[in-house]
Amino acid sequence: MEVESILQKLNQELLQASNPKQLEVIKLNYLGRSGIINDLAQKIKEIKPEQRSEFGKQLNLIKQEVTKILESHKIKDSENKLEIDNSIPDKMPSTGSLHPTTHAIFQIQDILSQIGFVRKRYREIDDDWHPFKALNMPDNHPARDEWETFFCENGKWVLTPHTSNGQIWEMENKKPPIKMLNITKTYRRQISPKHSPMFHQFEGLYVDKNVSIAHLKGTLDYFIKGFFGSNRETRIRPYHFKFTEPSFEVDITCDVCKGKGCKVCKAGWLEIGGAGMVHPNVLKNVGINSKVYNGFAFGFGVERPYMMKGDINIPDIRMFYTTKLDVLKNF
Ligand code: DAH
Repeated sequence: MEVESILQKLNQELLQASNPKQLEVIKLNYLGRSGIINDLAQKIKEIKPEQRSEFGKQLNLIKQEVTKILESHKIKDSENKLEIDNSIPDKMPSTGSLHPTTHAIFQIQDILSQIGFVRKRYREIDDDWHPFKALNMPDNHPARDEWETFFCENGKWVLTPHTSNGQIWEMENKKPPIKMLNITKTYRRQISPKHSPMFHQFEGLYVDKNVSIAHLKGTLDYFIKGFFGSNRETRIRPYHFKFTEPSFEVDITCDVCKGKGCKVCKAGWLEIGGAGMVHPNVLKNVGINSKVYNGFAFGFGVERPYMMKGDINIPDIRMFYTTKLDVLKNF
């Protein structure tokens, strides 16, 4: 009996076996009732009596070896199965979600790009010119204090307190017609349920020939209805900003009382941001002829309007910037 050649043949067959079924067939071929080993055992009768004990030993040896080899393959096979069998049920991995601010930014970008505004992301750290001087705010003008600005290096740099600096960057670098949407981080030294020292704003700027307040109002309406729902109305109220003339504050109807007046709003209206027709001095500062071109601009927060959506309950703006996942994963 050639123990070696039987084992060699077995190993050969096992190498070619690629699935549990084939392994089972091999096992039956060797260890089954009419398998190779039992066949060999039958032959004992043909062996001379004095050689039978040696034959028996050899047979046992083969049986043990074959069983051992098949067992070891069984283990390997089940390991493989674990690696590749993706039908085994498991817990769903958690996929995470967008941060609410990102969510809001994507919506704003989506709506305004439908009417041609091109997304930009201008500076968060700026010089004095772009967020102040070029926007018609002279050195000593009290309007500079309004934003409680963070100044760096003795006023050489500022953390931009509003996205209106993007108007200047855009107009310095591009000739009209201009339709820009600047969304970025802004900074003010204020902290309360309504104020976070870092927050986001978005700024729309349209400069072309013959731009009117009606274009501004139409754009604001389009945005408000897209963002808050078609039932929300917009109004513009006279106000004062240095870089627009005339200037307005923009209000939307309150969702709580549906415009009737309640504790949350002012007589049915909620203030959402500022807007106006670009001041001729601002156009002059960036080298655009205000006799040929004019335009409108508007600047709103990102987080605050998101908090004003009817279906969202974020009572404190600072909740956006906690690391509490139980809060953030609700959006
Ligand atoms: N930058 C102003 C602020 O942060 C908002 C603003 C008002 C932006 C009027 C404008 C505008 O573009 O025309 O309060």
